[in-house]
Amino acid sequence: MDMLDRMKVTRAVVKEALRLRTPAIALPRTVKKDFPLTPGFIAKRGQLLMPSVWKITHDPVAYPDPDAFKPERWLFGDAERQTKNWVVFGSDPHSCMGKVYAMAHLMTLIGKASIER
Ligand code: HEM
Repeated sequence: MDMLDRMKVTRAVVKEALRLRTPAIALPRTVKKDFPLTPGFIAKRGQLLMPSVWKITHDPVAYPDPDAFKPERWLFGDAERQTKNWVVFGSDPHSCMGKVYAMAHLMTLIGKASIER
């Protein structure tokens, strides 16, 4: 775990890969009570909402040149501050229970594959 903390470039590569090709593409939710989603649209109780993770993680305002693979945006850009757009693992009380493990696993995989033995 100490080593993973120091693997800043590998972490950036994994975060960018998950942003660019996000495995969970939607976060479906059933509306529990009517509420205005936008000024012109009321979400009705019982409706299924499908917020698009793809759209949120490819927002050009949050991530300029969103279709490009740019791990450096996590190191030198402000990607780390775009917390509202980092919904790869969800964003509410039901967000991913395995997110720390998943990040560690992917980083370890890349690390192992990169080390010459
Ligand atoms: C790259 C790998 C993974 C991604 C992208 C991912 C993504 C997600 C997302 C987006 C959600 C939220 C779904 C929602 O809000 O409707 C979620 C929930 C969850 N994930 Fe993951 N996940 C990953 C790996 C894992 C792993 C490895 C585990 C377990 C070891 C895990 C366990 C869970 C559990 C238990 C929930 C449900 C949490 C709840 O409903 O309270 N995930 N995951």
